[in-house]
Amino acid sequence: MTDPTTTAERPGTAGEHVLEIAGLRAGVAGKEILRGVDLTVRSGEVHAVMGPNGSGKSTLAHVLMGRPGYEITGGSVVLDGVDLLALTPWERAQAGLFLALQYPTEVPGVSLHDLLQTSARAAGRRSDDITAEIAAEAERLALDPRLIDRPLNVDLSGGEKKKNETLQLGVLRPAIAVLDELDSGLDVDALRACARRIEAETQPVADGGTGLGVLAITHYNRLLHELRADAVHVLAGGTIVRSGGPELALELEDSGYAGLVGPELAGEDEGTPVAVRPTIDDPFGGPGAGDPFADPLA
Ligand SMILES: Nc1ncnc2c1ncn2[C@@H]1O[C@H](COP(=O)(O)OP(=O)(O)OP(=O)(O)O)[C@@H](O)[C@H]1O
Ligand SMILES: [Mg+2]
Repeated sequence: MTDPTTTAERPGTAGEHVLEIAGLRAGVAGKEILRGVDLTVRSGEVHAVMGPNGSGKSTLAHVLMGRPGYEITGGSVVLDGVDLLALTPWERAQAGLFLALQYPTEVPGVSLHDLLQTSARAAGRRSDDITAEIAAEAERLALDPRLIDRPLNVDLSGGEKKKNETLQLGVLRPAIAVLDELDSGLDVDALRACARRIEAETQPVADGGTGLGVLAITHYNRLLHELRADAVHVLAGGTIVRSGGPELALELEDSGYAGLVGPELAGEDEGTPVAVRPTIDDPFGGPGAGDPFADPLA
């Protein structure tokens, strides 16, 4: 039997996909957090973004996906020539961008199956094929299949939520995926299963299809053992202050941020940031505004 995950096309233009972030500046509540971020992610590449707590990693992820509440003060985000900053979050998803949230949202009344079936239909895919794909992905990730029909993320363990995000990625087959601390909450076996699944997606397929491009936000080198990073970037003080190969993550483990980028950029301390959990009204979690269920075309 043909593996269903290797036959679906990635959205967007044929051939290689490119996400280009240039001079991106953004803030929230009058505070500038991103102060000129430059990063390019191509099909098949894995870029890790590391950085101290509160340095703006989740802000970057949210701004890329279009979460309301952030002020974009400069720069551009372009996917395959399309200006993402001009699009709504669902349009960005249709353009091929995917975000695995640091704190996945609980959505009572909507199952994972409902979500993926609706997404597949919206993308013009046959929704009756989706059920089999979901089951295959759940098996790959050792996710209890009973969770597929339960309300999305409701009462799931931290690890189950992250597997859930990975399953969505496997079924939706985006061009570029932003993973915001996918590794947090996963036990060793689950981490390996999720990272291997995503690593497999980054490989080109036999029919000439391109591999997934990944921007993986993480604090730990262990994710990068399985999800092999081509480049590691350190975000501090609102910009990428260091870029290098996988050895940079190891150097970081030895020296800490203070040793690597200096105490000022490592600390930046205006107090430890408070993690704000998502709610049904703000599925990204954190300082958002706006109604995620509002008709984006209205
Ligand atoms: N509504 C808000 N008002 C003021 N500051 C905010 C608001 N929301 C976020 N911030 C600040 O923005 C900064 C960046 O937060 P962000 O969540 O992007 O950090 P992070 O790098 O993802 O951290 P972590 O590693 O802990 O996940 C933090 O200092 C945070 O306190
Ligand atoms: Mg974060």
